[in-house]
Amino acid sequence: MNVNVKDTWIAKGYVDEPVPADVDVKAEIRRMCAEKNAVILAHYYTDGAIQDIADFVGDSLALAQWSAKTDADVIVMCGVHFMGETNKILCPDKKVLVLDLNAGCSLADSCKAEDLKDFVDAHPGYKVVSYVNTTAAVKALTDVVVTSSNAKLIVDSFPQDEKLIFGPDKNLGGYINTVTGREMLLWNGGCHVHGQFSLAKILAIKAEHPEAKILVHPECPAPVQKVADVIGSTAGLLNFAIKDDATEFIVATESGILHEMKKACPDKLFIPAPPETTEAEGCSCNECEFMKLNTLNKLYNTLKYEWPAIEVAPEIAEKAIKPIDKMLEISKNLKSAMSSK
Ligand code: 13P
Ligand code: SF4
Repeated sequence: MNVNVKDTWIAKGYVDEPVPADVDVKAEIRRMCAEKNAVILAHYYTDGAIQDIADFVGDSLALAQWSAKTDADVIVMCGVHFMGETNKILCPDKKVLVLDLNAGCSLADSCKAEDLKDFVDAHPGYKVVSYVNTTAAVKALTDVVVTSSNAKLIVDSFPQDEKLIFGPDKNLGGYINTVTGREMLLWNGGCHVHGQFSLAKILAIKAEHPEAKILVHPECPAPVQKVADVIGSTAGLLNFAIKDDATEFIVATESGILHEMKKACPDKLFIPAPPETTEAEGCSCNECEFMKLNTLNKLYNTLKYEWPAIEVAPEIAEKAIKPIDKMLEISKNLKSAMSSK
């Protein structure tokens, strides 16, 4: 680290320092990456400016696959906290930086490790399948981690009569139960962004754009899933939009993915699915406010001061690595959904 971290930064969870006006922020970010052998990873839900400067942009699976094989000394994860934790568990000897420690995840928050432990203890004989959107402590209680890209593949890898607990996303779990014909016990958790897409408003847009295909992330509620032309991870939806002949798409996932969709398909129309309530009614819209905490100025400061860095307690990391490695092993033949520049 270049300087002592200030108490005010620790209190805020990020480097709260203005970038001098004469600094070319983007050029300096790239220069510091070269100097420090650092790479920038970004999730599709971050702002377009962050995606554009990143070395790799991907869905949750691709980001984990990428960090497992990087030879960079520093990984800067532009996303949310659990993603930084996953990188650190996979790369304990590397410095893993995030831009703002306040970038959490309502879905990860919906499953506390102590509550999951009580649930597991109450259901002996069950294996635990956890979505990657979980804390390291929850992963440490897990048999195998999944993402939305590989959840079906991994659940299918268990014998049909294996008793499974799936958490924390009840919508993804319900979808996987449907497509695998299983009756996994579902944790009652969810994402506050995906949970609030409005079926009525999606159908109203569809009435105006009858040829549009409806792209739905499996974290959306079942009624929204039912009207989907395709259900998939962020990368799955992006790839579908690229390959499909349709020229109009209604997109029911966090609106950051539209940046990559528009870049990849400049001649197609992408319409963000609206949430139940509007901004005027005080909602957080179809944007994840945690992902939007990632800004270019914070990226500059994070690289400059090499803080905030993610640490995972060794006793937790030692257990959490096993279900992550198991996921990567089962998914190794899944084509990486990562975009690199
Ligand atoms: P994917 O990137 O796997 O589609 O996950 C979406 C998500 O909610 C990340 O927080
Ligand atoms: Fe978590 Fe939802 Fe934000 Fe994804 S969109 S990081 S699941 S709160």
